[in-house]
Amino acid sequence: MASQSFNSTLCHFVFAVAIILNIFAPALGSDQTSGLSMNVIDKCWRMNSEWRRHRPQLATCSVGYAGKMTDNIGKDLVHYKVTDPSDDPINPKPGTLRYGASIIQSRVWITFQRDMHIKLLKPLLVSSFTAIDGRGINVHISHNACLMIYKSTNIIIHGIRIHHCKAQPAGMVMGPEGKVIQVGQVDGDAIRLVSASNVWIDHNTLYDCQDGLLDVTRGSTNVTISNNWFRNQDKVMLLGHDDGYDRDKNMKVTVVYNHFGPNCNQRMPRIRFGYAHVANNLYQGWMQYAIGGSMGPSLKSEANLFIAPTSGNKEVTWRKESNGNMGKWEFHSVGDVFENGACFTATKGGRVPTPYYNSQQIFKVADAKYVRALTRSSGALRCSKTSRC
Ligand SMILES: *[C@@H]1O[C@H](CO)[C@@H](O)[C@H](O)[C@H]1NC(C)=O
Repeated sequence: MASQSFNSTLCHFVFAVAIILNIFAPALGSDQTSGLSMNVIDKCWRMNSEWRRHRPQLATCSVGYAGKMTDNIGKDLVHYKVTDPSDDPINPKPGTLRYGASIIQSRVWITFQRDMHIKLLKPLLVSSFTAIDGRGINVHISHNACLMIYKSTNIIIHGIRIHHCKAQPAGMVMGPEGKVIQVGQVDGDAIRLVSASNVWIDHNTLYDCQDGLLDVTRGSTNVTISNNWFRNQDKVMLLGHDDGYDRDKNMKVTVVYNHFGPNCNQRMPRIRFGYAHVANNLYQGWMQYAIGGSMGPSLKSEANLFIAPTSGNKEVTWRKESNGNMGKWEFHSVGDVFENGACFTATKGGRVPTPYYNSQQIFKVADAKYVRALTRSSGALRCSKTSRC
């Protein structure tokens, strides 16, 4: 096989790693009280028992390619509360999620009055400068259409449970600029980005959708995907539209502190053309593969914990050969920890592609031995009524 000369595969059957981790487990426990087990994003707001009174402060907590989401907040910020779980895709009523997310054109911070199950009748098109904040409440968007971030920018999606999303036929729907538009057929993804930028997806629980959980497509860039829990899914995360869409070569995505599994099959993520910094994530098994790509993708896999499935494929990576792009395939592993015999096929030689984060984006990647602790509260958080999350 031609690919073998370009790559080196590292397989790890070192059970000593697991034993050492067990020895230090009590030490990790004590880190929790000193706050060391909270990752940098969470530490920025979860330490504050008054976070409910300062919700927009969350916007200052993001890291990675989304940068700080400070364009989402300011004096003119509209505070909007969802009081009505119903949905009208063309004529949304005030009080519904669609009214707040598609109609309101200024900076808006959306919260929810109470626990809610929202069944969307068409994809929800989120306007620029919108934050959807489900903290402290149990919000499900499920069992039909789900979220679409289409040609918009500066979006925060936090603390929502999105699942059982289904394919939708083409149809008319309130667009992100407050005007009804025609939207083509969609496949049934939990969150789909189309030509979107500066998007932060944090602490959501995503599972059991008809197509995928999170797609970043058609020139979308400057995206941070953090603290989410992805489970029970065949195709988890797609970065890059298709093999013919080379505008995605400018795509930059940070994937950090997420928990993948159990019962995820593939694409955690699958990368085309662009660059992904995948750091400090927990991989609780996979079936086909964990991270894969085609069309000259670039990956820095850094300090993740890859726990291979007990039986089946131990190989983390998957690579699709594509004409002319074989040599440009850059998959690098730095400081990753492999358990249960997990293997990583890295590009041999070459320079590890660094993220080149600016001061708004940069964060310190933790040692992989802390990944279990740093991802322990991934997904939508359960917050106590009176104090901390
Ligand atoms: C992405 O972020 C960088 C750095 O902040 C910025 O220079 C660039 O214009 C952004 N790209 C888009 C499409 O927003």
